[in-house]
Amino acid sequence: MLDEMNDVQLDLAQLIRLALAEQTEDVRLFVARLVRKYRNTDPELAEQMDLYLRAKAPRASAPLRKVAPPPLSAQPLPVDDESRLSLLKVFRDEPNREPPLLATDLEETLSQLIQERHQTKRLASMGLNPTRSAIFVGPPGVGKTLTARWLASQLGMPLYVLDLTAVMSSLLGRSGSNLRAALDFAKRSSCVLLLDEIDAIAKRRSDDTDIGELKRLVTVILQEVDEWPATGLLLAATNHAELIDPALWRRFDLVVNFKAPGIPAVKQAIKRFLGPDFALFGRWIDILTFAFHGESFSDIERDLQRFRRAVALGTASDADLIEEFVKSRALVLDRQGRIDLAVLLAKQTRLSQHAISEITGVSRDTIRKYTSEQPAAAKKTQKGKPDA
Ligand SMILES: Nc1ncnc2c1ncn2[C@@H]1O[C@H](COP(=O)(O)OP(=O)(O)OP(=O)(O)O)[C@@H](O)[C@H]1O
Ligand SMILES: [Mg+2]
Repeated sequence: MLDEMNDVQLDLAQLIRLALAEQTEDVRLFVARLVRKYRNTDPELAEQMDLYLRAKAPRASAPLRKVAPPPLSAQPLPVDDESRLSLLKVFRDEPNREPPLLATDLEETLSQLIQERHQTKRLASMGLNPTRSAIFVGPPGVGKTLTARWLASQLGMPLYVLDLTAVMSSLLGRSGSNLRAALDFAKRSSCVLLLDEIDAIAKRRSDDTDIGELKRLVTVILQEVDEWPATGLLLAATNHAELIDPALWRRFDLVVNFKAPGIPAVKQAIKRFLGPDFALFGRWIDILTFAFHGESFSDIERDLQRFRRAVALGTASDADLIEEFVKSRALVLDRQGRIDLAVLLAKQTRLSQHAISEITGVSRDTIRKYTSEQPAAAKKTQKGKPDA
């Protein structure tokens, strides 16, 4: 019978089905689609439906529910009505995830945060709440988002990541209600909510004409940080601490500083990211550590993945890859850095002084001078290869 109906009848049938199932949110989404569909062919109908939609804001639907709200997994994630972009991304990770590589103090801070959640009763007996909100600060690619995922997995909660760009790309005047819908949704469940790149709001404030709109967003967030329930955890992450509104800044219970990895962490990261290929690349570990120092974890991971692919396909040997890589890194080093690199290469590889000089741009005289200043090293070097 359904295939005998025309388009309009099909839409009507679908609408009735949703309405009778009391799927209010789905009705709203469907009607929003109809508004767009009929805008050209039947503008009056479209306008009428749009009016109904606007008269019935999403929040107003809550009191209509007669029964307890369905479990969260059954509730649709909030989306922006206009762009249809999903405002929240969900991650449900197993607790046996490998922990991120973190500095010791940072590890301790996070471990306390987890402990607090396991001992909320004890805290409560002393009139204390567990940490309800934290802001992660640090340069790109050092594990802010990754740590949020890991934390959620350790707390046995899903992680919702709010896409602030999606919130703000929505039509002017809507971003406030979009943000509220997303925050309300997250607040109702016990979850970790991450406001990723929260500086997006602050950054826009300086170059956007609609200052009022952005102010409203900040106000919404300010209120939420204050009122966030202790059943959940509110996280924010930013690369730009200086752009964060001070009023917002001081509302977070905890500030967590992420730093670019130091030498030991770089070494650990190389081992981890090489995985089974460490057997092949392990002999270059000191050179790689030196060359990668100053890079973020995600940059290190990306380069090592490239090496591993090349080796897997047989397009390059490990030695070639290392040489080419070290050459490119030498370009960004200062003179002392290049000399240190040259000395390291002289000590740890079979490269001739000529080759090392080519790679690092340090003259052979200088290499000779530095390597002979350290007699033990110099001897080793000369044993392996006659001077070029
Ligand atoms: N501390 C870390 N330990 C292990 N891997 C890491 C770490 N930091 C980053 N990585 C690797 O780099 C990837 C990107 O990291 P992540 O997205 O967490 O960076 P971020 O700090 O959130 O950066 P951005 O400020 O650009 O959002 C991760 O998925 C992971 O593979
Ligand atoms: Mg991130």
